[in-house]
Amino acid sequence: MGRGEGRLEPTLSLFDAISIGLGAIIGGGIFVVTGIAAGLAGPALILSILIAAIISLVTAMSFAELTAWLPAEGSVYEFSYRLVSPIVGYSAGWMWIVSNIFAGATVSLGFGYYLTALAPTLDSKLVAVILSILFTTLNCVGVHESAKFNNALVISKIVVLGIFIIAGLPHLNYEFFKIQGEYLSGILPGTFYIFFAYGGFARVAVIAEEVKDAEKTVPRAILIALVASAIIYILVGGVAVGLIGAERLGRSNSPLAEAMSAAGNPLLLSIVSIGGMLATASVLLTSILGVSRMAYAMSIRGDLPLFLGKIHPRVKTPYISVLMAGSVMAALILLLDLRDIVAVSTFGLLFNYSLANLSALKLDSKVRRYPRLLPAIGLATSTILLCSIQPSTLVMSIVFLLCGILHHMLRKSYLESGDK
Ligand code: ALA
Repeated sequence: MGRGEGRLEPTLSLFDAISIGLGAIIGGGIFVVTGIAAGLAGPALILSILIAAIISLVTAMSFAELTAWLPAEGSVYEFSYRLVSPIVGYSAGWMWIVSNIFAGATVSLGFGYYLTALAPTLDSKLVAVILSILFTTLNCVGVHESAKFNNALVISKIVVLGIFIIAGLPHLNYEFFKIQGEYLSGILPGTFYIFFAYGGFARVAVIAEEVKDAEKTVPRAILIALVASAIIYILVGGVAVGLIGAERLGRSNSPLAEAMSAAGNPLLLSIVSIGGMLATASVLLTSILGVSRMAYAMSIRGDLPLFLGKIHPRVKTPYISVLMAGSVMAALILLLDLRDIVAVSTFGLLFNYSLANLSALKLDSKVRRYPRLLPAIGLATSTILLCSIQPSTLVMSIVFLLCGILHHMLRKSYLESGDK
């Protein structure tokens, strides 16, 4: 299929775009990964949340300026392809797909943990697999239907987090906020994991071609969604630590439900558990959407096989890439454990954010909105965070990156041999 054929329509408003951003951001990170991050950073969890927010915000400015320059399907893939080099662009696109598939697996598991907090007889992994299959099917139906459903999910999860904060406040134990020395070395690794919670703010840039007046709408949507989620996370993280302490949070796969149990109200516990399920489900929806749109953009350029970009003639979605993303997610849920899945996803995320900042650094000064110092800080901070990963996860993540590069080289030599 060539450019111009089977193109996607610009139908999404600013509200839809912010909602897609929030749908992608608020999910498994705050509801599930808070536990892992609290286990590492202890009572300094709020500091980790804050540092991750600042790094995300700086990177978001790079995304905003890049998207205003080129509001095209493909986001960081397109930016680094054009501004850095084709192979770097390809690696960005590939790692975007890897990161989002792992994020999808994380939030599916998160959904399973929150459902089993309410119904302990169920198997959380089985629940996660069923959910990923269900949402893959929903994504095949089309972006507009998905966006409307996403709006409803986003409003619900914000309401639930609001209830968590308000209901938790009277039960805080201020002793839990005392930062002990042994946790100080855990702040950076805690920041690495909780960074997952901000992932997704750039998702709306990937579907820029479907947004009305994308040049203005997309950058605004990115910044609004990120600032709103940072405020919510800091409040939720603070209340969660104050309710049960970082140590207990660190031992739980459904930490906000565990924290709410301290309020001793079964109704509140059910609300938070249902909120956890809604939040993770809404991220899953946009993860699959993001993966399929990236696969679409990469296949149009010939970086991935053409059939992945095939648009369904009636429902107008790249249905083959949607189905493939869903199947890989289901396999990861069955094969790996939560911590590794989160870590690979966050590695991919930070890898992409480093490249987005690098691309923003290379933007021509005529189209530049912010000083170069900003993307330089973004590049330095996201790279430092990337290096704070555990060696075993680093190796696993690099293997995924090398698989992509190998695929690229084999594909290139195959296409070149066909030309002869
Ligand atoms: N930021 C997304 C989440 O927390 C990936 O689920």
